[in-house]
Amino acid sequence: MVSSRAKKVTTQTLLKMKQTGEKIAMLTSYDYSLARLVDGAGVDVILVGDSASNVMAGNETTLPITLDQMIYHTQCVVNGVDRALVVVDMPFGSYQGDSKTALDSAIRIMKESGGHAVKLEGGSEVAGSVERIVNAGIPVMGHLGLTPQSIYKFGTYTVRAKEETEADRLMKDAKALEQAGCFSVVFEKIPSELAKQASESLIIPTIGIGAGADCDGQVLVLHDMLGITKDFSPRFLRRYADVGQAVEGAVKHFIEDVRSGNFPDESESY
Ligand code: KIV
Repeated sequence: MVSSRAKKVTTQTLLKMKQTGEKIAMLTSYDYSLARLVDGAGVDVILVGDSASNVMAGNETTLPITLDQMIYHTQCVVNGVDRALVVVDMPFGSYQGDSKTALDSAIRIMKESGGHAVKLEGGSEVAGSVERIVNAGIPVMGHLGLTPQSIYKFGTYTVRAKEETEADRLMKDAKALEQAGCFSVVFEKIPSELAKQASESLIIPTIGIGAGADCDGQVLVLHDMLGITKDFSPRFLRRYADVGQAVEGAVKHFIEDVRSGNFPDESESY
């Protein structure tokens, strides 16, 4: 008998998880090997985030990553995934122009990458595009609060929607995204109380990052929670491992062994 844990996660699974109070675990992945480990460990959603621009390419912002690059990363991830829902970030410039451009980009992602859904940043201003993409049969996840693709508009990565006007706007945007057909929405770096209220008022599941414990699920960037990225320590980030230190230690050990002639030994030779 196949256990229910082995069943593929769909957008319906996530909705049911919200209804039954089961929290959703989401992590990023950008390549086959780590996606395979993350999926095997049982995460519900894998996000091929445009944070690949920072984490994989070393760019300062998420803006430079292209649609072709997002498609490539997703192809690699999909090859390593059996169970999780794979959500793909639509990169900056691929959907902001108009709803036809947005639909064309979403179709390219679905056709060429094998991903299962797309994610885009913004509220009411992208609701028309969300509707058009959803009408084409493509599930869309929204993203509100701190939206890194707008970093040059906001100027900082600090907590968003602390003031009443911005908080009211976020609530309206969340509703607009739900009405447009989003199956879920990410809340990034907003006050916990606002995330709680929004999560309670929405039917669709909310996924928080720096948005407190009352969202329906939580997401972290894999390389941050594994301790691979060293120079990023926001308050919301819990480090579950120090893989960076393990890699550095192993590499130093290898160098020592090569230099001393200790590697390879007889058992490692033909
Ligand atoms: O690109 C990304 O990794 C994201 C998460 C931070 C939600 O959008």
